Parts: sequence; C-alpha cells; structure tokens
Amino acid sequence: MSVSSAPHLLSIDDLSVDDIVCLLELGDRFAEVAERAVPKVPALRGKTVALAFFEDSTRTRLSFDLAAKRLSADVLTFTASASSLSKGESLRDTTETIRAMGVDAVVIRHRHAGAPAQVAAWLDGVSVVNAGDGAHQHPTQALGDAYTLAKHRQANGLAAEPANPWRLDGTHVGIVGDIAHSRVARSAMAVYAALGAHVTLVAPPTLLPVELSAWPHVSVSHRLDEVIDSLDVVSLLRMQRERASSDVFGSVREYVDRYGLTLERACRLKPDAVVMHPGPVNRGVEIASGVMDAAPNVLIGHQVTHGVALRAGVLYALLGRADADVEAEASRDDRR
Ligand code: CP
Repeated sequence: MSVSSAPHLLSIDDLSVDDIVCLLELGDRFAEVAERAVPKVPALRGKTVALAFFEDSTRTRLSFDLAAKRLSADVLTFTASASSLSKGESLRDTTETIRAMGVDAVVIRHRHAGAPAQVAAWLDGVSVVNAGDGAHQHPTQALGDAYTLAKHRQANGLAAEPANPWRLDGTHVGIVGDIAHSRVARSAMAVYAALGAHVTLVAPPTLLPVELSAWPHVSVSHRLDEVIDSLDVVSLLRMQRERASSDVFGSVREYVDRYGLTLERACRLKPDAVVMHPGPVNRGVEIASGVMDAAPNVLIGHQVTHGVALRAGVLYALLGRADADVEAEASRDDRR
C-alpha cells in the first residue's frame, strides 16, 4: 500500500516497511513543528476530522484532537456517552450521520475488533483511522512508540544504521504482560519486526493469545527474570481487566512478583535499556511507582508527546494534498 494514496489506516498489517518509515519521517516533520513558538501549520485548512470514540480514551483522543488542530483542520468530537446511541441508534447510522455533516476523516475507537474496517466499508470517500479496536489493532500507538524508541536511540548514539535512523536491528524488545487482550501488542510486534528489532513476548500462558503460530518472528518467555538483563526495551502492557473474560492470573500480588517492573528488576536492566508503557498505567502492578517516577530512561511521557506528532503525520498522509511538498507545508506557519 502506498501511504500517499491510502484512504485509511486500519492495521499495521496493511503497511509496507516503506510505508512505516514514511509515517515515522512525517511524524518527525511535525515533531519539529511542535517545537516552534507557534506550533501550527495550515496543511489541512478546510478539512474536517471527526473523532468518533465509542470507548473511553484520554491519550489517543486528545492527541488526535491536538494533531488535527495543529494542522488547521476543523475537529468534530463525538462522545458516545452523550450521544443518540442511548436511544438505540446503530453504529452504521451514527457514522453515516457524521459523514453527512461533510467530514473528510473519521478517527474511530471501538470495543469490537473490526469496527473501523466496517465503518470504512460503509463510508465511501471518507478516510478512516483505527484508534484502537477491541484486542485487534492500535496502529498509531505502535507507530508513535516506534518513533519514540528510534528517536531515543538516535539521540544516544545507539541507532543501528546512521544512514537509516529508523531501523531497530539488534534491538531486543520485551513486550511484557497481557498480550492476549492487547491491541497495542499486536500492532507493536508488527512495527518492531518490520524495523528489524527482535521481540520477546513475556507473559504467563493464560495471557498469551492462541494464535502465536501466526507470529513466527517472535520469541516467548513465561518468566521476566529469565530475559530482563538481555532486553534493550521493556515495553509494559496494562492488565486489561475490562477485556479479560475471567480471572486469568492467580492474584495481582502473584502477577507483580513474576511480571511487575519492581525496583529490584529495574536495577538489573542494562544501563542503556529503556522502559515504555502505552498507558494508562496500573501503578504498582505493571510498574512500581518508584520506577515510573524516578528511574532514568523511562520514556512514558515521551510516548505521549511524540504521539501527537506521529498522529499529525498520519492525518497529513491521509488528507494532505498528494502533490504537496511536505517540507514546505511543515515550514509554513499559520500567522497569515
Ligand atoms: N494508549 C492508549 O490508547 O491510551 P488511551 O486509552 O488513553 O487512549
């Protein structure tokens, strides 16, 4: 798929390695824009982006909102809890109603896997961005996290290939926790593998998906202590109590004992290893408060900051003029 001609971003699996690198580079352009005194460009003036969040969100919704506004798009915000869904209106009629208002893109989050693809099939001519669907995909989170990691490695002289600074060859990424219910893990595995990193999934058997054979490029460990001192990245996942169908682990205490990033485990990390988490965090479960607040190389705040720029890049890739000079667009400011 060519990013410049793609109407939707539904899954990392739809992207080539070149597409992924193109989106990271676009994100980088808009990260530079974010550093300016007036962090706004007129690139999407006249376009309208609808944020259709049928499931709760803080980071993704706010960062798409800010990203669209920084590109000078108009933003339409749909809030499920205050909508006519409570009167029985269907997903199709709700999104058709949003389309009828003249939007160019719909950014959708939904608890059901496949909802964004279904909406894309209904809304001909409107770009659809998957902002997280069930336990399926969360492509912009994974792209933003890969961007954050690559920028950290560039800044610290750890880039695998200076000529291709987005490559992560030789980087060992441990994705730790509730893999089974994590859309972030599914998207992140694909992005990291595409960029050359080696991924180890670290989880108890009850929190691993049954379709592991579909990912032959990943390793699996059931013990964090077995791999912690070999990891360059510890990417922690939230325990998703709302998606787990039953109590899949003995107790929270037992989970922390075996998979939590405690102070003791943090001390065993390589000196240049980094800690990541897509949020929201269950403090004291996936990560000890003392590690989250005080340990060096915790990139959680950077993941949020970079998520805005990466999402601006995605919106620009989908809605920007195909013939536009990205450098020139990102250089123009909005003070005219
Ligand atoms: N990481 C993430 O998707 O967070 P939100 O649910 O707050 O958007």
